[in-house]
Amino acid sequence: MSNPPAALQKAPHHLQADDLLPESLLDFLGCPTPPAWLEWAYANPDILLIDHAQCEKKAASTAMSLLYRYVDQPLLLSKMSQLAREELLHFEQVVTLMESRGVGYHHLTASRYAEGLRQHMRSSDPERLIDLLIIGALIEARSCERFARLIPYLDEELAKFYRTLVKSEGRHFEDYLLLARQQTQAPIDDRIALFVACEQALITSPDTAFRFHSGVPR
Ligand SMILES: [Fe+2]
Ligand SMILES: [Fe+2]
Repeated sequence: MSNPPAALQKAPHHLQADDLLPESLLDFLGCPTPPAWLEWAYANPDILLIDHAQCEKKAASTAMSLLYRYVDQPLLLSKMSQLAREELLHFEQVVTLMESRGVGYHHLTASRYAEGLRQHMRSSDPERLIDLLIIGALIEARSCERFARLIPYLDEELAKFYRTLVKSEGRHFEDYLLLARQQTQAPIDDRIALFVACEQALITSPDTAFRFHSGVPR
């Protein structure tokens, strides 16, 4: 990372990040990433990369589990198959970056984030799947937003990589949302609102340890 932490408070960086992000994605999220999280990320560059690798692997694994469970949905199968391949490619790219930077890959505890969202999931289909797809859209949207906001503070190699991720995670957000809406004729806006509010609370409240999807420092 190249800029001093003091620079994190400067508004022009946020303007730069917003320029990279589609309006539909910014409207979907309940809040922007707090500057305190960006400072926390700046102070933990190794954990940022290790947990990022974990997130890519989990994203591929979630998509794979949908491939097993919903074999009667052609659009879901093609979108999730493509998504799983892309997430595994991202995983490989992060691990390669870690190796070239001498960052050792070790196990990290998961953040509270995904479980904090999944605990509100309804238990039987099609409601369960709708909720799972909304959560998928939120995780992709937040990841995309965080990559964009981190870019101004990264060295050129990492910034270039994260710019490519902003594009693909933004597309994954759209795909998950499309699949969620496709599951029912009824509006799903109340479920989206519930998960957006829950996600916002997880992002803005104090958290125990720095992770890619953590809240803010205590
Ligand atoms: Fe990814
Ligand atoms: Fe993704």
